[in-house]
Amino acid sequence: MITVIGSINMDLVVTTKRAPEAGETVLGNDFQQIFGGKGANQAVAAARCGAKTTMVGRVGNDSFGDVILKGLRQEFADGAVIEKIDGVPTGIAVILVDAKGQNRITVVSGANHTFTEESIETLRPVIAQSRVLLLQLEIPMDAVYKSLSIAREEGVFTILNPAPAQGLRSDAYGLIDLLTPNESELALLTGLPTGTYPQQIEAARVLHRRGVKSLIVTLGSYGSLSISRGGDIKHFPAYRVNAVDTTAAGDCFNGAVACEIDRLMTGRSSDAFIPTTTELSQAIEFATKASAISVTRMGAQPSLPYRNEVEAFDEWYCSHVDTDS
Ligand code: RIB
Repeated sequence: MITVIGSINMDLVVTTKRAPEAGETVLGNDFQQIFGGKGANQAVAAARCGAKTTMVGRVGNDSFGDVILKGLRQEFADGAVIEKIDGVPTGIAVILVDAKGQNRITVVSGANHTFTEESIETLRPVIAQSRVLLLQLEIPMDAVYKSLSIAREEGVFTILNPAPAQGLRSDAYGLIDLLTPNESELALLTGLPTGTYPQQIEAARVLHRRGVKSLIVTLGSYGSLSISRGGDIKHFPAYRVNAVDTTAAGDCFNGAVACEIDRLMTGRSSDAFIPTTTELSQAIEFATKASAISVTRMGAQPSLPYRNEVEAFDEWYCSHVDTDS
């Protein structure tokens, strides 16, 4: 079972031919309100890939909160711990998607930022009954550190997706079983250049030496690289597809990886579980397919595929292969 403690947002999405420059006005094509938030997206991705998943999050006592609460309770059946907080708005994200499917996102955290160390402590039983705890950085850092500490005390496998990019306390690295930065997050965490593949490997090794057990660095259209048990490095190419919207592609990847790690742990003790290179590769290959499907669809949560779609990927890929490049 997976628990995700993280953000819930209403995404306010505008599609436009191109994003405006500072001081410029452009005409957009379309506007939609779509369920998002890195935490909720990753939890939905894991659940749709077949993992028993509990989403823990917070919304405001407002109309966005009402509609999201209803939607997420259906998505997770009885596996959602979502609180309504008075006096703060539901988190929102203003998202501009251009004709190439690239996005620009501004988040206003609202209720997501009301988590405290104390409120996380009350979630100890929820964390303790999980095999995997999946976290991002859209809730307060103190809440993230507290969640990692409880998971370590309770022998739960931890995955941290350090997004949006922020520095981490040096003592946090030893609490992370799997860290999943993208290239710019890797640069921020290490203070090193990450523009080339050798630089990415070097920077990833720095984080491995800081105590993270395994790493996956996501590299957008270049795929991903992993460092697993024993320091083995492996590269995984991305699939070439016609992307309409890359929003939540990373969330899809993380949720799918968490799902596969959870499956690998079935019947094994969570304590001290470190996936082998083969096991981590298996999880990454599955997640690479899931996120390739997600970028061909508009929006965050509506784009996240179900397990049967990922399993039928090879056949699907033949009909969706990128014909523009
Ligand atoms: O990763 C994509 C997500 O980032 C969006 O759904 C938005 O809500 C922000 O949290």
